[in-house]
Amino acid sequence: MIPLTSRKSKFASIVVLGPIILFANLLVFAQDKVQLSVDISKPGPKVDRNIFGQFAEHLGYGVYEGIWVGPDSKIPNTRGIRNDVVAALKALKVPNVRWPGGCFADEYHWRKGIGTRAVTLNPNWGGVVEPNTFGTHEFMDFIDQIGSQAYLSVNVGSGTPQEAAEWLEYLTAIQPTTLVKERAANGHPAPYKIPLLGIGNESWDCGGNMTAEYYLRQLTIYSRFVRNFDPAQQGKNQMQKIAVGPGGGEARWTEWTDTIMKAWQKRQWSWDMQGLSMHHYTVINWENKFASVGFGEKEYAQILKATLEMEDLVTKHSAIMDKYDPQKKISLVVDEWGSWYAPSPGSNPGFLVQQNSIRDAVLAALNLNIFARHADRVRGANIAQMINVLQAMIMTDKEKMVLTPTYHVFKMYVPFQDATFIPVTLNAGTYTNSDITLPRVDAIAAKDTSGKLWLSLTNVDPNNAVEIEVSLTGINANSATGETLTAPKVDSINTFDAPNAVTPKPASVKVQGGKVSIKLEPKSVTVISIS
Ligand code: AHR
Repeated sequence: MIPLTSRKSKFASIVVLGPIILFANLLVFAQDKVQLSVDISKPGPKVDRNIFGQFAEHLGYGVYEGIWVGPDSKIPNTRGIRNDVVAALKALKVPNVRWPGGCFADEYHWRKGIGTRAVTLNPNWGGVVEPNTFGTHEFMDFIDQIGSQAYLSVNVGSGTPQEAAEWLEYLTAIQPTTLVKERAANGHPAPYKIPLLGIGNESWDCGGNMTAEYYLRQLTIYSRFVRNFDPAQQGKNQMQKIAVGPGGGEARWTEWTDTIMKAWQKRQWSWDMQGLSMHHYTVINWENKFASVGFGEKEYAQILKATLEMEDLVTKHSAIMDKYDPQKKISLVVDEWGSWYAPSPGSNPGFLVQQNSIRDAVLAALNLNIFARHADRVRGANIAQMINVLQAMIMTDKEKMVLTPTYHVFKMYVPFQDATFIPVTLNAGTYTNSDITLPRVDAIAAKDTSGKLWLSLTNVDPNNAVEIEVSLTGINANSATGETLTAPKVDSINTFDAPNAVTPKPASVKVQGGKVSIKLEPKSVTVISIS
């Protein structure tokens, strides 16, 4: 790639050296126009909307302050849940919210969060007091307000199958049991919908340091006894049970996936699961994490290289799953993913507060694209975490709220929810920074339920724009429109004082003779629709 600056200096010499150099320059520009082909007649699987899931753990300001301010707060709220956050999340059409953890889930005892609340501790995250004011009913109210669905994680590490079974009876049963009457007395006579249930969290680590074999025993017990009792949540609407899966690509993790999947293939009638989770964060050095802001191009390139490891992990664990489940009945659910940087200076290190820059927007798009390309197996994912924690959508400070660049990517990707994946081919070349070389452009396409074609294009190169020419088979392009998210610097962020520094703008796209041309700004994510 010839940088734009050197191209300009070559133009200056045209006058002197004449037509030969002009021709050479035209060739450079011709090569620079990247050809992208989309064949709509070869549709792939559905891009499950659940890959756009969120994660809200009792951690730092994720729940308290981020969601819950209490009914007496001066911050506008509905039954204690902040209205600004609800409105922002509604626009994302969040398909599911994973709660209450994370590591917190394996120390969570649900009865402390209903009726009269018990004040406990949160030993995982700063050792702070956990007031339990945000409990089962408040969570269900929250997901109802944002129009989402529940993905509950039950406590396997320090709980019992009985405790988890009773939680599900409390939530879902319809007969007049003591627990159902208690639910009604607490304000919700009707059963709650629980479409997704995680059986433990990172049981190989904070969830109890279990071996794969030990966890497998727990899984089979919990799977047997933790039932959804609601008649409306059976058959094709049955609750999906998601087992703890791997946390990396090393031998230890491949053995874990192998152990669980092999047992599932040989299972008896008395237990089952529908999903296997996987966790993978973008971190380069756990002991000395990268800064989330105030970094340069080198760190931009290093983090984006690291994030592409997701492709290898998904491929590796999907291949193991294929061995035991060639029909792909079990979903791979990447229910914790995203960037994990050093805590923001001055913040409580146990609260995992970090900034969110255009680098994170690019990172989010690259990961969502990986999940979409593996839509036959990856049918769920939850970015960590929704508000004020790690790669958040939203940051709050008392009454103030700001939407992050990652929020904007999730909003731009809404049309991909449940759309049909359409393969694309392109050869956009590479972007290089010192010893790091990455694909310059990443792209996915999908057709929504109304037949409209959507393209997402990410220009990883932070310095050079890219011209894309799209050729379409199976659809006539009459018009195209879209949005692009870019920023002046690799670490540009939105702040409470400048909340719209990184915000989507209309994309530069035109249609001529059935061909669509798009200009991708440096370090940008662009989503367009073609009809
Ligand atoms: O998202 C923060 C933590 O990361 C979660 O609690 C845990 O599951 C993971 O290790």
